[in-house]
Amino acid sequence: MGLKNWLLPKERYCRARCVRILFATRNSHKCQEVRSLFKGITGLEILNPDEVGLSYQGCEDNLEPFDTFEENASSKAKYFHQISGLPTLADDSGLVVDCLNGLPGVNSKRFSSWSQGDPISQDEANNEFLVQSLECFRNVEWTARYVCLAVFLDSKANMKMTRGEVEGEIIEIPKGSDGFGYDPHFLVENTELTFAEMSDREKNRFSHRGKAFRKLVEEIKSDL
Ligand code: IMP
Repeated sequence: MGLKNWLLPKERYCRARCVRILFATRNSHKCQEVRSLFKGITGLEILNPDEVGLSYQGCEDNLEPFDTFEENASSKAKYFHQISGLPTLADDSGLVVDCLNGLPGVNSKRFSSWSQGDPISQDEANNEFLVQSLECFRNVEWTARYVCLAVFLDSKANMKMTRGEVEGEIIEIPKGSDGFGYDPHFLVENTELTFAEMSDREKNRFSHRGKAFRKLVEEIKSDL
């Protein structure tokens, strides 16, 4: 008996009808957040690069050399679209701190001088460096925002791009253990919580990524 006949009716239907979309990220947290944003749309499968057989390549580290989130997001989407041949989602995101003149911005991932083999994780090193950088700004509020540029390239490489932002404030003492990156230090405006104290669902309600991808879903859902 072929594999097809072992599948439950719903799975058989999905195999036949599912549109496979690649999400161009190696960040499992981002992937989890974005998958839950697409949950309501049936017939879509959001896959990460490993799931479509694309193992990590060193050249991926050079996909974000630009000064804007827009250019970096479209660079990632184009690269993964080209090598996979699949409709592709990507995002470029980061933390923008007012009194640091917008830093770390597009360099959020590599803000500290962390390197592979260091005893702490890259996120921990970035958070330590962020708080150190803010120490000489005790006379002002540490207002900040997260920014996300979300991109979709369809099978013919037509591009749609949307932006989401969330305002907040950096706190010195981290709170919470969920999320990733700067989340334990980012107090979300009009809440008493950091993103690290929220479930994925709650974070998506407020977050830059939630806002950008909800807009993107609205723009592309009729084409899917
Ligand atoms: P990207 O993978 O080049 O978009 O880099 C994103 C970097 O920005 C991450 O590695 C984090 O340092 C930071 N960042 C972006 N979005 C978030 C978020 O939702 N939570 C925490 N940090 C984030």
